[in-house]
Amino acid sequence: MAHQWRGVIREYMDRLPFTKDDPVVTLGEGGTPLIEAPALARLLDVGSVHLKFEGMNPTGSFKDRGMTTAVSKALGDGAKAVIAASTGNTSAAAAAYAVKAGMQSVVLVPAGKISWGKLSQAVAHKAQILQVRGNFDDCLRLARELSENYPVFLVNSVNPNRLQGQKTAAFEVVDVLGEAPDLHAMPLGNAGNISAYHLGYREEVADQRIKKQPMLYGIQAAGSAPFIQGSPVAKPETIATAIRIGNPASWDLAQEAKRDSGGGFGSVSDKEILWMHRFLSQEAGVFVEPSSATGAAGLYKLKQLGELPKVDRIVVTVTGHGLKDPDWALKDENGRKIKPKKVPTSASSVAEILGLERK
Ligand code: F0G
Repeated sequence: MAHQWRGVIREYMDRLPFTKDDPVVTLGEGGTPLIEAPALARLLDVGSVHLKFEGMNPTGSFKDRGMTTAVSKALGDGAKAVIAASTGNTSAAAAAYAVKAGMQSVVLVPAGKISWGKLSQAVAHKAQILQVRGNFDDCLRLARELSENYPVFLVNSVNPNRLQGQKTAAFEVVDVLGEAPDLHAMPLGNAGNISAYHLGYREEVADQRIKKQPMLYGIQAAGSAPFIQGSPVAKPETIATAIRIGNPASWDLAQEAKRDSGGGFGSVSDKEILWMHRFLSQEAGVFVEPSSATGAAGLYKLKQLGELPKVDRIVVTVTGHGLKDPDWALKDENGRKIKPKKVPTSASSVAEILGLERK
């Protein structure tokens, strides 16, 4: 009989702060594919690379893992409304899970700096959307202040229930591979995700499911790289709008994840991000939003600099679906718009345009 994945709370209840009497708000998140990418393994000259394709979550990003736990807890605590600051994906997830829970959602986004795919999701799920004249960091400050003083629950990753849900991605990697990879890379923005993977892998070690956690690598966009600069960036800029964040909330946790796992931070230019975005589409068959290509782009850069650690198995989390921010796929390497040819309705003329010889 077909088995339907039950969402991360029910699949991992014994390892989450939930009991079977707690309300569960789920859209069936988690259980995302771990896709082998031999082309990327060749590029990096390692034994294997698997992509953890988080774009396969219900709202198209990894945020759903933490939103099921945060919104379920909020419902259990009697919340009527949730609030989130977001570069887009969190707002889509908060809006969808709020609908499922029968709550209102309020989302604060940086004006003009979120992709229309993500904005359309928040609109579709009837969030109250406010475009803040500022960046993500301003939005988060506002959301925190509002949740402290008004009856709205904060569901950003500073809410510890978010990291609890997100840590399940590490569990899934171990469940599928049967062990931990040597190195695990991902894009790094507000730093919730790398902190959640660290939490998950550490628990796997404590439970003796794995011997050692992977080296965790967090990669930032060069124009928005506080972890490389060593201090907050006042005016973050990058085409990777999902990670356009200058003052990451989980600063200390990310530093700890890096230190404790023996990992590292890196940064890549927008050009390097877009190159990898295209490579993943064209060589791995995995369509991600540009921000999501940042982890793989960072490893390729380390490889080129001769700084990629000698490892065998790598996992790279690709955090969001390509349809979230599809404009970039419709441009060529030189930024020119790609327009598919228009053809007449005759097989012989189409064959001629395609350069096909008759059989
Ligand atoms: N990748 C994508 C697609 C994201 O949307 C984000 C964060 C990240 C990576 C970085 O993860 O913040 O945990 O280090 N997006 C947040 C949002 C900020 O509002 O959707 P992080």
